Amino acid sequence: MTAGNRPAGEPVLEVKDLGVRYGELVALEAVSWSVAAGELLGIIGPNGAGKSSCYDAVTAMVKRQGRVHLRGEDVTDVPAHRLPERGLKRAFQQNAFFHDLSVLDNMLAVMHDTAGSSLSTSILTPWRASQRRAASVEQARMTLERFGVGSEYHERLPTAIPYGTQRMLSVALAFGGGAQVLMLDEPGAGLGGEDMERLTQLLLTLKRDGLAMIVIEHHMDLIMAVADRIVVLDQGRCIAIGTPAEVQRDRAVLEAYLGRAA
Ligand SMILES: Nc1ncnc2c1ncn2[C@@H]1O[C@H](COP(=O)(O)OP(=O)(O)O)[C@@H](O)[C@H]1O
Ligand SMILES: [Mg+2]
Repeated sequence: MTAGNRPAGEPVLEVKDLGVRYGELVALEAVSWSVAAGELLGIIGPNGAGKSSCYDAVTAMVKRQGRVHLRGEDVTDVPAHRLPERGLKRAFQQNAFFHDLSVLDNMLAVMHDTAGSSLSTSILTPWRASQRRAASVEQARMTLERFGVGSEYHERLPTAIPYGTQRMLSVALAFGGGAQVLMLDEPGAGLGGEDMERLTQLLLTLKRDGLAMIVIEHHMDLIMAVADRIVVLDQGRCIAIGTPAEVQRDRAVLEAYLGRAA
């Protein structure tokens, strides 16, 4: 295999021999990869290739085989809901908002993990508590802006803002109060033109800021533009891993995937 099968730096997240079965069906088998800080790993493959199963397997959302290491620590047995506090965060394919909360309140709701524990908040004087709340609001607004959700949308309901901005909001909410590893499943779904360009720029910026990202994506233009390395799945197996240039000229990929899609 080429140099493309290892990240340039120390891996932040490493999965070994991931496997997922649904009854008799083998959805994913012996898939291994790793991702470093400031690196974006793309996962592509035709429908049913096992991309979402792989995504769910990493974050313990499905019963799976294999091992997961986060910053050198074996987190295989850490349950899904305890991974975010360790810096591994994920977005969901559908826009998962609190529909009756404003955009700002949605952001505040996912930032609590860094805005002070509920215990310390409960024993603060009202003055300290309100100061802390103001700091949280400020941090939430800054995060939204950083992720391309402008202040004109902060007081609106998530469903009342443009679709492209809803997708950016999904990424912001997944990131929450901070992350070392961010996983996105088809962030570009339903996007076109200008919105796709905004998403591309956002992903490149997050990468420059040192975030490790795993992005499942259908849009070849998007993934080829943002990924450092790409894992190609087909029928539950990894058929290629390498830089965008490497996988684009890989015979197995051309035959099994791009050829079929063309
Ligand atoms: N919950 C499930 N129960 C049974 N089969 C499933 C389930 N989820 C996915 N599959 C099957 O597993 C395979 C991989 O699916 P998936 O991981 O969703 O692929 P992708 O995201 O690449 O389209 C497919 O054959 C799919 O039909
Ligand atoms: Mg999928």
